[in-house]
Amino acid sequence: MKYFIANWKARITADQALDWSKEFSDKVAVDTALQLALNNDKIRIVICAPFPFLFLLKDKFSHSKNIFLGSQDISPFDEGTYTGEVTAKMLQGTIRYSLIGHSERRHFFNETEEMIGRKIEQACSHGIEPVLCVRGPEDKIYSTVKIISYEPVGAIWPGKNEDPAKTVESKHKLSLPPDRVFIYGGSVDASDIRSYTATGEIDGFLVGNASLNPADFYQTIVNGQL
Ligand code: PGA
Repeated sequence: MKYFIANWKARITADQALDWSKEFSDKVAVDTALQLALNNDKIRIVICAPFPFLFLLKDKFSHSKNIFLGSQDISPFDEGTYTGEVTAKMLQGTIRYSLIGHSERRHFFNETEEMIGRKIEQACSHGIEPVLCVRGPEDKIYSTVKIISYEPVGAIWPGKNEDPAKTVESKHKLSLPPDRVFIYGGSVDASDIRSYTATGEIDGFLVGNASLNPADFYQTIVNGQL
């Protein structure tokens, strides 16, 4: 199973999100090879949309096997007097995945390991699978998390994608137990994704910039599914 995770970040409006879902679904609908890959559990697509759009998009992909919604973050709190928070309890049943600990959250929102640990707990206890984003071996790997997304900060767009050999080296430095899913994120697009899949060491991709346009994201998946 290969994962293709779109991370729109805060770069798209509600209207654009709806147009995106239509254009992307239309492309998937006429691609029988991609349909087969989805139906045979060869690939899984996760769309990490901003919170307000998750309910708008809820039914847009529900008919397709292996296309799921994800959030880009989740509250460390279960419920209570936490103005502005979006909790796992609220999103339960709407999303299947949640990014946790993205470097942009660690950097701009001062997320600490303590908060990240609580977010993971919240996700897990509400049936949401955490996708733990780490910058490298300096970040903690939690034993309860199956999917680890490695994202070297300098490679995140508008950076330059990391050399795939270096990515494999970094994977080994993380010393992940063998049952973990290892995802790479950092300026991946349709033009460079094959150089990562060719290593045979990468189980999926977190795609930011190249996921904003549905045609680009679709092509990235098509090129990366092999
Ligand atoms: P990018 O984002 O593809 O735009 O570099 C990836 C990420 O944030 O992990």
